[in-house]
Amino acid sequence: MIDKNKILEAFKYRHACKLFDTSKSISDEDLNFILETARLSPSSFGFEPWHFVVVQNKELRTKLKDNAWGATAKLDTASHFIIGLTLKSPLMKYDSPYLKEFMENVQQLPENVVKGKGEMFEVFQKSDFDLTDDRKIFDWASKQCYIALGNMMTAAAMIGIDSCPIEGFNQKKTEKILKEDFGIDTGKFGLSYMVAFGYRVNEPRAKTRRKLNEIVTYK
Ligand SMILES: Cc1cc2nc3c(=O)[nH]c(=O)nc-3n(C[C@H](O)[C@H](O)[C@H](O)COP(=O)(O)O)c2cc1C
Repeated sequence: MIDKNKILEAFKYRHACKLFDTSKSISDEDLNFILETARLSPSSFGFEPWHFVVVQNKELRTKLKDNAWGATAKLDTASHFIIGLTLKSPLMKYDSPYLKEFMENVQQLPENVVKGKGEMFEVFQKSDFDLTDDRKIFDWASKQCYIALGNMMTAAAMIGIDSCPIEGFNQKKTEKILKEDFGIDTGKFGLSYMVAFGYRVNEPRAKTRRKLNEIVTYK
């Protein structure tokens, strides 16, 4: 087990890093460690509705800049820049052959469990969570993708690597670039976030947060 203070130190060390040191690069080993924490992240029903694109090509990074106001300096300076994609409906819809195959091949569930879980998932989508249109399904699946984001950033901080999560982009225009220039099948994948990794140039301003008793209620 890791010392609690060490873990909190990492949470305090992590900040939304605005500018990275271009002379420092994350090692393959460390990048794989960060990506591994995404892979091991939990997701609703265990469906892992995510894909991560590591963008190291300079031209592709430049293409992203026009429609990503929140990412400009990070695209220029980050050691590694990752795009978080989320699987969309129809793949994430209860009746999709993709999910059936996923339960069989990835989750290695026996036939009767695949059937039962599929039926439960249908009820969950149709009534429990009201996931009744494509946008709702995407937003729900996207939430899972954000769990991986949080884990990647925390894991990075634990080994002294800085990060910045990014939603400062035009989703539609950037998805067009992802389709045309990155060759991503945007029928299958939607853009959830970007995240930059590297090493800080400047020290961040002191963290501001509300107090614990303002955000937690015990009943
Ligand atoms: C989902 C999400 C999207 C964000 N988008 C951007 C962004 O586009 N550009 C940016 O510089 N910071 C972005 N941030 C960083 C936040 O502004 C930052 O996390 C927040 O102000 C708290 O500061 P701290 O992370 O340094 O503690 C984003 C954070 C999150 C969680």
